[in-house]
Amino acid sequence: MPKPPIEPPKTLQWVGDLPGHVLMIEQTFLPQFKELEVHDVPGMVDAIKRLAVRGAPAIGVAAALGVLLGAQQRMDATGQQALDGALEDCRVLAQSRPTAVNLFWALDRMQACARTAHASGLLGEDFARHMQKEALAIFESDRRTCRLMGEAGAELIGSGMTLLTHCNAGALATAGLGTALAPMYVAHASGKMIKVFADETRPLLQGSRITAWELNRAGIDVTVITDGMAAKVMQEGRIDAIFVGSDRIAANGDVCNKIGTYGLALAAQHHKVPFYVVAPLSTIDVSLASGSSIPIEERDRFEIAHGLGKQTVPEGIKVYNPAFDVTPAAWVSAIVTEVGVLKTPNEAMIRKALGSS
Ligand code: MRU
Repeated sequence: MPKPPIEPPKTLQWVGDLPGHVLMIEQTFLPQFKELEVHDVPGMVDAIKRLAVRGAPAIGVAAALGVLLGAQQRMDATGQQALDGALEDCRVLAQSRPTAVNLFWALDRMQACARTAHASGLLGEDFARHMQKEALAIFESDRRTCRLMGEAGAELIGSGMTLLTHCNAGALATAGLGTALAPMYVAHASGKMIKVFADETRPLLQGSRITAWELNRAGIDVTVITDGMAAKVMQEGRIDAIFVGSDRIAANGDVCNKIGTYGLALAAQHHKVPFYVVAPLSTIDVSLASGSSIPIEERDRFEIAHGLGKQTVPEGIKVYNPAFDVTPAAWVSAIVTEVGVLKTPNEAMIRKALGSS
């Protein structure tokens, strides 16, 4: 029986007209629900760095709205000051996190928009309105893209399947339904019976805190496991398919995603479990030939040594905390995009998909 579509949580939104502000779900508190208002560029940089807003597409949308926050504070500036200010805001926002390419993709669009506004002689409020239109277009296109990925990916899900996911690649990682979780929402809404195992996702627990929260909110049967249990659950034959998102996909189809994804893919290979990556075309970076050139963010030792609210590593012990890893394209059964499903992806297929968008 088809179920009424569930309205995804409002990960982030623009409130008001001009001037306006950004209202987001403060994700560091989840599963406790809190909201955060962001009024300026430093506030947005801080929110992205702290992971108050996170997930590749959401980071891109947040950065675009951040540039808009900066532009609306310069409505009295000269044309050159407005352009220089917007470019500086893009530069500062680009330093907030290094791995998710959607951040740079969105900032490139905002930069191009500022240059066009300047070249057309737009000043003051007109300049800011031009920037507002572009930021909101990025927001809306993310919503549409999520829906399309959801519909394409749902074709891979049969009723009765049990799926496994890692980190949070859901509504809370986008402005819409999510990437990896979007096919689950569409399948569930069409009446397919599905169950989901969510990896806890050490060290910041995006799986247990965020994925479990949003799947449960949508009425989807979800079970949390620790990351180390995923291979065992596959060995027990309980997983029909794995769905993950991505922060950056290289030209050859290598997939960068949350730390732990590589190990998951390795186990999936062994147990012959299909491994699906769901990501918009804006996550593909054809400037990088392979995944080995993707910059991997290293985060503070504190996240591991004090991650669960108490000290969990003895004082003075070294900690290594890479936030992402790279899965070779050869282990990816398909990349689900807004223009369709790329089965056993390779460079030619990826370039063709980018050309068709
Ligand atoms: O560090 P995070 O929480 O921003 O990492 C998020 C992920 O790794 C997601 O899987 C990825 O961004 C894809 S989300 C649609």
